[in-house]
Amino acid sequence: MNTVIEALNFRHACKKFDPDKKVGPEDLDTILRAACLSPTSFGMEAWKFLVLASEKIREKIRPACWDQAQVTDASHVIVILARPSLVEPDNAYVLDNFQRRGLPEEATLAYVDRYKWYLQTEVNPRMSTYAWTAKQCYIGLANIMTAAASLGIDTCPMEGFEKEKVEAILELDTGEFQVAVLVALGYRAGEQTPRRRHSRERLVEIL
Ligand SMILES: Cc1cc2nc3c(=O)[nH]c(=O)nc-3n(C[C@H](O)[C@H](O)[C@H](O)COP(=O)(O)O)c2cc1C
Repeated sequence: MNTVIEALNFRHACKKFDPDKKVGPEDLDTILRAACLSPTSFGMEAWKFLVLASEKIREKIRPACWDQAQVTDASHVIVILARPSLVEPDNAYVLDNFQRRGLPEEATLAYVDRYKWYLQTEVNPRMSTYAWTAKQCYIGLANIMTAAASLGIDTCPMEGFEKEKVEAILELDTGEFQVAVLVALGYRAGEQTPRRRHSRERLVEIL
């Protein structure tokens, strides 16, 4: 079977982790490499992957995560942070980020103009810059889950948390970093829950 499909079949939203099994540093490094290799719109990389290895800190956030056992039973929790203020059009980071492409000045400035236009006319009328950057965090989330599965490591993506409470407990400067989504990593303690998916005919259309 195709190795990606194999990993995707292994992956499930793991509810019961073995609290005694830890993800090793090499595997964690591979998973984080996959996260950092994930694409972002205009290559802005407006995110940060905050790895909670400490049991103490995971115990502290668990009540703000609907008291979900995965937070403390898993080996690690990765908090994926969006950085909306970094990519607001007037932030100097935007120009710097386009400059690292090494294009002629004219082309760089054209990119900046296109970016500003895109944010102002296509993104912000429909959603906040937080929502736009948080959407992209889910690409990192998906790659984390698939990379972990390819290593036989289980994950649980988690939106079940109170954003402001988690940010306060982690003492985040929310002017810079805001929580998008969490993912628990570790090893399953029980059987994989049965997979439920609608039919391909319902989910896929080819024109
Ligand atoms: C963005 C997102 C947030 C989720 N949040 C939670 C969560 O907080 N707690 C949980 O137990 N499962 C959570 N899930 C898991 C889903 O319920 C699960 O992926 C879905 O039922 C399909 O099951 P499967 O992943 O095992 O195929 C979340 C999934 C996604 C994609």
